[in-house]
Amino acid sequence: MKDLTPKEVVAELDRYIVGQESAKKSVAIAMRNRWRRQQLSDEMREEIVPNNIILIGTTGVGKTEIARRLANLANAPFIKVEASKFTEVGYVGRDVESIIRDLMDISVSIVERKKEGEVALEAEDLANERLLDILFPGNGSGDSHEGKSDLAERQKRTREKLRVKLLDGKFEDRVVEVDVADETMPMMQVFGPIGLEEMGMNLQDIFGSSIPKKRSRRRTTVSEARRILAVEEASKLIDHEEVLRDAKSRIENSGIVFLDEIDKIVGNSSGTGPDVSREGVQRDILPIVEGSNVITKYGIVKTDHVLFIAAGAFHVSKPSDMIPELQGRFPIRVEMDTLTTDDFIQILTHPKTALIKQYAALLETEGVKLKFTKSAVRAVAEIATEVNDATENIGARRLHTVMTTLLEDILFEKSGEEPEKISITKEMVNSKLREIVKDHDLSRYIL
Ligand SMILES: Nc1ncnc2c1ncn2[C@@H]1O[C@H](COP(=O)(O)OP(=O)(O)OP(=O)(O)O)[C@@H](O)[C@H]1O
Ligand SMILES: [Mg+2]
Repeated sequence: MKDLTPKEVVAELDRYIVGQESAKKSVAIAMRNRWRRQQLSDEMREEIVPNNIILIGTTGVGKTEIARRLANLANAPFIKVEASKFTEVGYVGRDVESIIRDLMDISVSIVERKKEGEVALEAEDLANERLLDILFPGNGSGDSHEGKSDLAERQKRTREKLRVKLLDGKFEDRVVEVDVADETMPMMQVFGPIGLEEMGMNLQDIFGSSIPKKRSRRRTTVSEARRILAVEEASKLIDHEEVLRDAKSRIENSGIVFLDEIDKIVGNSSGTGPDVSREGVQRDILPIVEGSNVITKYGIVKTDHVLFIAAGAFHVSKPSDMIPELQGRFPIRVEMDTLTTDDFIQILTHPKTALIKQYAALLETEGVKLKFTKSAVRAVAEIATEVNDATENIGARRLHTVMTTLLEDILFEKSGEEPEKISITKEMVNSKLREIVKDHDLSRYIL
């Protein structure tokens, strides 16, 4: 994957997210700035801090959705966490440093996957050689002693023929026995200062490969054995030190943390009772956002240049209720737009996996071709807006409830008896939903 320009990022996000132009722009710029920073001299690079972002908007307007799509795009280690899951150090629950530890796990596995891909062909060759050894012992790679060179020569030719057959897939279903390292290593707990055991440190990590892994014998088919052996060979070919260095540098230079539900750790101003611990979480987050060293089982990770994107509805509290230090560390604030009826129409129809396309696909499995007329789509969007206005505004989530109610009967009745076409019209939408919309108490429960 290459590094996308801000315009390309926005274009990609456009495929899934309707509206929210300023939010898309901000995240696109932030992402590109990481790349730009990478191009600079060391001195300059150290000085440039990421411009952390807060996305502010009521529920269901696409905050989490932007994060989800960004995660797919970002050629960078990315983690999304709910701020409300964390508790102050010393309390029961997760401490904020675990975010960085998890991010390191993610980064390591990204780099491992990449390296495995690079050595895949070589690993498969080696696995095939080992399969030949297992399938035809004795036709080994021939320690050709002098005088026996004739025999060695013959064995070499036989092996060559067998290799061709093996590669041809002639032995795939034969059952062989392979010696494999157990994938689950014995976990040994280290009791140490607070947090160590929580970090999931085990002796294997500390002493690395100096502890021999337990091996066991498995009977399996050639094709499965090849897969197992290739994984093992790949692991031997990979320089694990380099993986860790690479994974660490990816986080330190381009890691992204998405802190969802940040408003849940912001108490409203009064500042007594449970707020104290929320404020504690905010204080715990500070050093990580600011830049600190976090101990992970792979070594120390610096967070100075990790980009933080926070998001929150801020219904009850306001961003200004956050402790001032934290506010200052999120210099960019983006207000998400409230979604309009026209946005809803777009959300229903436009994204690659838009809601209407989802239902059409579901019903397609029953042989039903589901269509919506233009005016029917508009009617659904209008009803969603009306209900949002009359009861709670839950943004685009309202479309889900409206659609399930609308399609309930069809989803219940159709079960592939015979192929048919169903076209949903405006009249059908209204007759199914109007009564419910009119009655606010009823729509509160149903829509
Ligand atoms: N702008 C949008 N474009 C496309 N789909 C959207 C948009 N906004 C919301 N949705 C749809 O609505 C659903 C909820 O959106 P999302 O999870 O992003 O809400 P949120 O802003 O994170 O809300 P909350 O504050 O409750 O977490 C998603 O499934 C998404 O498909
Ligand atoms: Mg959300």
